[in-house]
Amino acid sequence: MGSLWNNVVLHPLRPHSHTSFTSPMKQQKLLRSSRNSSKVIAYYGLKTPPYSLDALEPFMSRRTLEVHWGRHHRAYVEGLNKQLEKNDILYGCTMDELVKFTYNNGNPLPEFNNAAQVWNHDFFWESMQPGGGDMPKLGLLQQIDKDFGSFTNFREKFTEAALSLFGSGWVWLVLKRKEKCLAVVKTSNAVTPLVWDDIPILSLDMWEHAYYLDYQNDKAKYVNAFMDNLVWWDAATIRMVRAEAFVNLGEPNIPVA
Ligand SMILES: [Fe+2]
Repeated sequence: MGSLWNNVVLHPLRPHSHTSFTSPMKQQKLLRSSRNSSKVIAYYGLKTPPYSLDALEPFMSRRTLEVHWGRHHRAYVEGLNKQLEKNDILYGCTMDELVKFTYNNGNPLPEFNNAAQVWNHDFFWESMQPGGGDMPKLGLLQQIDKDFGSFTNFREKFTEAALSLFGSGWVWLVLKRKEKCLAVVKTSNAVTPLVWDDIPILSLDMWEHAYYLDYQNDKAKYVNAFMDNLVWWDAATIRMVRAEAFVNLGEPNIPVA
């Protein structure tokens, strides 16, 4: 997930020109107007995937990344920033806070869709890597065995959820805080398990824009390609280790002084 504050870019309300020549007189004027406008607004930047756009080929093409990340993800970021210009109450939130706050207990504010889609896509890009696939490791594998019976069972459940999702949405492996177990969940449109306070471990984008260019409507082929060649289990394993800091999955182990 990374620090989402890395994702925030601060701009003065009155933009400076960094790219074109500005005369000394104009610079003085800009400086004066900059001093007069002390208000600063937080904008969110478009994070780049942790690999080049052609790195996931042939399982996810450069063209898909150009359209999916370069157009759709970018549009969510730009749409969110435009909305935030008009809403002082949302100033200064981390992206996690923004998603939870704008979900507004099930009555989403207008900013929710863009905020959640920015969060979801950042998380999705970081759920894949070139040469992915294979198996989860360490504690994550043990917990999958415990909660699903086996990795094969988990994979079947994840695939079934992806293929039975109606319309656009996401499939997730989450750690449920209250139940203290892993679960597969699916969400519609922009909804993310963050809003129910569950901890996402892995996600798969099941919007048509994620697979149509490479797989047309063969969703099963897309899900299998993700599982066999793209999923980055190391990232999921690290997320699980972090999640365990907040959810006690065993007997308390209190150190004795
Ligand atoms: Fe997407």
